[in-house]
Amino acid sequence: MPFTTERDMSMQITAPPPSPAASHTAQRSATPAQLLDLSHDDQALTLRWDDQRISRFAAIWLRDNCDCPACRHPQAMERLYMFIDHDWPSITQVKPTEGGLIEVQFKQGSTTHTSRFGLGWLREHCYSSEARAEGPPQRQLWDANLNDAMPTVAYDDFMGSSEGLRRWIGAIKTHGVVLLQGVPTIPGKLLDVARRVGPVRQTNFGDHYDVISMPNPNAVAYTALGLELHHDLVNWRFPPDVQMLSCLKSSVTGGESIFTDGFRVAEDLRAENPQAFALLSEQLVEFRFHDASCDIRASAPMLALDSQGNLVRMRFNNWLRSSLKVPEEIVTPMYQAMAALWTLLRNPSYHLNLKLQPGELVAYDNNRVLHGRNPFDPSSGERHLQGCYMNMEDLDSALRLLVWHSPESVDKK
Ligand code: OGA
Ligand code: ZN
Ligand code: ZN
Repeated sequence: MPFTTERDMSMQITAPPPSPAASHTAQRSATPAQLLDLSHDDQALTLRWDDQRISRFAAIWLRDNCDCPACRHPQAMERLYMFIDHDWPSITQVKPTEGGLIEVQFKQGSTTHTSRFGLGWLREHCYSSEARAEGPPQRQLWDANLNDAMPTVAYDDFMGSSEGLRRWIGAIKTHGVVLLQGVPTIPGKLLDVARRVGPVRQTNFGDHYDVISMPNPNAVAYTALGLELHHDLVNWRFPPDVQMLSCLKSSVTGGESIFTDGFRVAEDLRAENPQAFALLSEQLVEFRFHDASCDIRASAPMLALDSQGNLVRMRFNNWLRSSLKVPEEIVTPMYQAMAALWTLLRNPSYHLNLKLQPGELVAYDNNRVLHGRNPFDPSSGERHLQGCYMNMEDLDSALRLLVWHSPESVDKK
């Protein structure tokens, strides 16, 4: 197997870029730090780096991550090795080899196996507490200040260059909202925009939907009413991660959009009113959408946290909230907690205000950013938006492909 998987730009000019699958390889050698020292016993390999980091890798972990052709399929790059079928490994020898590789020999019962790991790969996969604390691109929480710094990308850059696509996805990851300008005002065009990134997520509203004021609406969005800040489809077990709204017509009086960084607000609630925050992160609330064709329900906390207490998903949607079914002594405190959150959400100091114009498409992280609109006068002109949804996995995947491919292979000029 060739050991040519460094991720630096000069490599991309002189050598073929690594395939996305090659990002699995344990043989990448470039590192952000220098190795000072390497030691082992039979159960672990220890690396000491010049930035104070100490990386320890258990023998079973190393053996499980061997990517020789017998242990990982060389084309599919998926794991073949099944540790359950082998004796527990111990390390017998470790030695650095050419090209920044570390060769590790294992003894497993009466058999032996040799694996090679790139220093860069080991550093990247280090599982020390310091390494685990390092995250991907950090969220930047915002308030009304974003009115002066709205992340914006030109449609032509987005469609035609990897840099434009990278900036668009990057803004969703950091700010949770991004505006695309110069989109052709052709019905359905938003699907081309979505598919530049990945597949469109189907829902009970189809692959996309028209937001217009209509007779007999099955959702308040399809009226001329103002819409309180909300997240969409919180009645799904996994609401869509990303929502797109594309503006085709906007000549009415009113109908301005409002966005709020729900995580900014929730963090402020955590600081100001920890009891309310705790209730909203612990108690399940049911949400439901039903019409003639479906009845979709999900129960979840309004503020979902990971095991470290970090916000991962927020659900706020007053139309879809079912009646509370919590212990009697919690009913009133829950209403107080929801009111505390709602009061903060309504504070204009958190609001990003925008009147979408034809040719503009706003996309946002529907687990984080809330959206709403002012009422409009349907007799004053026309208002026509189209919406669709995507999964964050597909944005993350597109971003990784941008890193692993040369720009030429991504550009669609
Ligand atoms: C929606 C929605 C906002 C608007 O379609 O989900 O909230 O501005 N629309 O019409
Ligand atoms: Zn192997
Ligand atoms: Zn909505």
